[in-house]
Amino acid sequence: MRIEESEVERALPKLEVEARRGVSLAELTYLGIGGTTDLLRINRHESIPELQNLLDEHGIAHKFLGGGSNLLVMDGELPFVVLQLGQPNPDVIIEGNIASVDAAADLGRTVTMCAKSNLGGLEGLIGVPGTVGGALRMNAGAYGTQIGSYAREVKLYRAAERKLETLRGEQISFEYRHTSFAPDDMMLAVKLELPSKPYQEILQGIRICNEKRRASQPLGQKSAGCIFKNPPGASAGRMIDELGLKGLSVGDARVSDRHANFFVNAGRASAAEMLALVADVRNRVEKVYGVTLENEVVVWNA
Ligand code: EPU
Repeated sequence: MRIEESEVERALPKLEVEARRGVSLAELTYLGIGGTTDLLRINRHESIPELQNLLDEHGIAHKFLGGGSNLLVMDGELPFVVLQLGQPNPDVIIEGNIASVDAAADLGRTVTMCAKSNLGGLEGLIGVPGTVGGALRMNAGAYGTQIGSYAREVKLYRAAERKLETLRGEQISFEYRHTSFAPDDMMLAVKLELPSKPYQEILQGIRICNEKRRASQPLGQKSAGCIFKNPPGASAGRMIDELGLKGLSVGDARVSDRHANFFVNAGRASAAEMLALVADVRNRVEKVYGVTLENEVVVWNA
């Protein structure tokens, strides 16, 4: 969807929103799949309600993009514009045991910056790609760590109510890859309360997680991480592997040979191919195990 030369485009500078025209989502997502649209970069949180009003008045649909690491976007000209937060500098401020982090901050960089200030707890998240906002939105986790455990305060934009709000950690429920945020809530910033730990000890934990990840996941390839959530008490990757589906392909969309819950774009896969592969694997697992795997990847299909 394009806003070129429109009243909307002319109103953006006073809201401190920059427009980038004709952006390819394939270039902004780790899967390397997705069509084209205009991208609006928001440089002032307080402008978001007015921006949403403006878009609604002109019938322009929109979606919020985090780091693009857990996202599968449809092909072709997209019927919505994409909103993304600009990155403030600095994006991580540490005072005592509290790290105040902007939602647009890179998660890996946040983990290492906290480590350098002798703040641990986040070691397991090293190597999880994406932004802190995206990680928080779905309570990203790995190796026993979930980001939600450390959230003491979250600043967000509630799209349904058109207002910015600050919630205390206890007001939010963080579960396995799920939070109580509404689907259209946009994360803006978080205060993480982290335990003190000597830097060398944190570094050791980071090294161990990096090694485990390198040994079990297809890190150099285009993927959105795990495609499916693990069903209670079971492993989606193990089930898909047991069915002998590693290497199964639809066009260039392929079940990774290294970890069966990672589906990779081995070349120029389309969203349609990736979705066909996801549906095929889900059906096969359902037939044999009687379990319906739920997507972990977020799909922008309309
Ligand atoms: N397994 C296989 N074959 C495979 C993959 C896994 O047999 O192809 C077996 C493993 O040997 C292991 C079990 O399945 O016994 C679990 O595998 P793994 O330790 O790799 O963990 P996972 O449950 O597949 C979860 C998260 C990952 C996270 C790792 C490490 C989910 C859906 N996935 O994977 O998160 O990195 O644990 O903590 O919860 C992600 O969210 O995108 C993601 C990659």
